Amino acid sequence: MNDEVSATPAVRVREVGLRDGLQMVRTILSTGQKLEWCRRMVEAGVRDIEVTSFVPPKIVPQFADAVDVARGAIEIAGLHAAALVPNLKGAQRAFDVGVQKVHYVLSASDAHNMKNVRRSTAESVEDFARIVADRDARVAGNPRAMLGAGVATAFGCTIAGKVEERIVLALVETLIEAGADEITVADTVGYANPGQVRALMRQVCALAGAVPVACHFHDTRGLGLANVLAALDAGVRAFDSSLGGLGGCPFAPNATGNINTEDTVFLLEAEGIDTGIDIDKLLAMRETLAAWLPGEAFTGAIARAGLPKTFAQALAA
Ligand code: COA
Ligand code: ZN
Repeated sequence: MNDEVSATPAVRVREVGLRDGLQMVRTILSTGQKLEWCRRMVEAGVRDIEVTSFVPPKIVPQFADAVDVARGAIEIAGLHAAALVPNLKGAQRAFDVGVQKVHYVLSASDAHNMKNVRRSTAESVEDFARIVADRDARVAGNPRAMLGAGVATAFGCTIAGKVEERIVLALVETLIEAGADEITVADTVGYANPGQVRALMRQVCALAGAVPVACHFHDTRGLGLANVLAALDAGVRAFDSSLGGLGGCPFAPNATGNINTEDTVFLLEAEGIDTGIDIDKLLAMRETLAAWLPGEAFTGAIARAGLPKTFAQALAA
């Protein structure tokens, strides 16, 4: 496959299985396995992958090799590698490696933020400003990293319950003013429904203007793909998903996996939307992953039932 392949797809499906998916599993994958997963996703047409998380290894041992995974990932042709960071220290580690994109995350729910990153949401906002300053102060050498900001628990919280729209919108506005290159709105605990998604995401997209907006859904209560359609209606053009539906949040009780990558691509392509992603190649990688992670729960309708005979995907050669 050529690096310059498909021009920008109409909708970007961003793999987060290597981060959101792996933070909950019992088996620690080797750095080599993680990089093979990245390479095969790129071969399948996935260009955006959150490859690791720069958190203390004590907190998530799966990411003790974050530096090596990020170093390997940035060498993979055609891959736009992102890494999640919870604080300035994580961002500095990611910038040092030269990862193309850093995803900073904070929670709209103060209680969730406290549990997840041990500080208030307001303190996390202040930390973001320091991250922007650190990124901007770095001169030549590595190209300037893109800096995305994610608002977690944007549709409700297992600890605090309801999260007001105005809180999410105010955070989006503040993060963009502070210098975010992109906004991700996340249903960390799987509370969102399509009406709520349409209503909030219309306002977020209007507020964001030229700044791209992505959504991150979990399928905890079965509405993940319905929420994708609602977000599409509202103007969102990028979605996080994980191969085999792996995932969860260690700090949100009963949160289950992300929306499933194979099923998400199937939905989008069935809607006539170009993703540039080959579902058969995803399914082959899923089989490899299932063999690497014995005893883990995988989800997915397409893996179970196969593609319909009537489904024809138009992929660029
Ligand atoms: N990477 C590596 N080490 C880090 C780090 C990072 N991103 N952030 C902090 N540390 C180190 C500090 O240097 C310090 O080390 P020391 O004890 O050797 O001096 C130690 O960890 C404690 O630092 P502190 O700033 O007090 O962190 P904390 O204990 O308050 O924890 C977080 C804050 C953000 C690091 C932690 O809560 C965290 O990693 N949360 C993310 C959880 C997660 O992955 N959630 C799911 C995804 S959203
Ligand atoms: Zn998630």
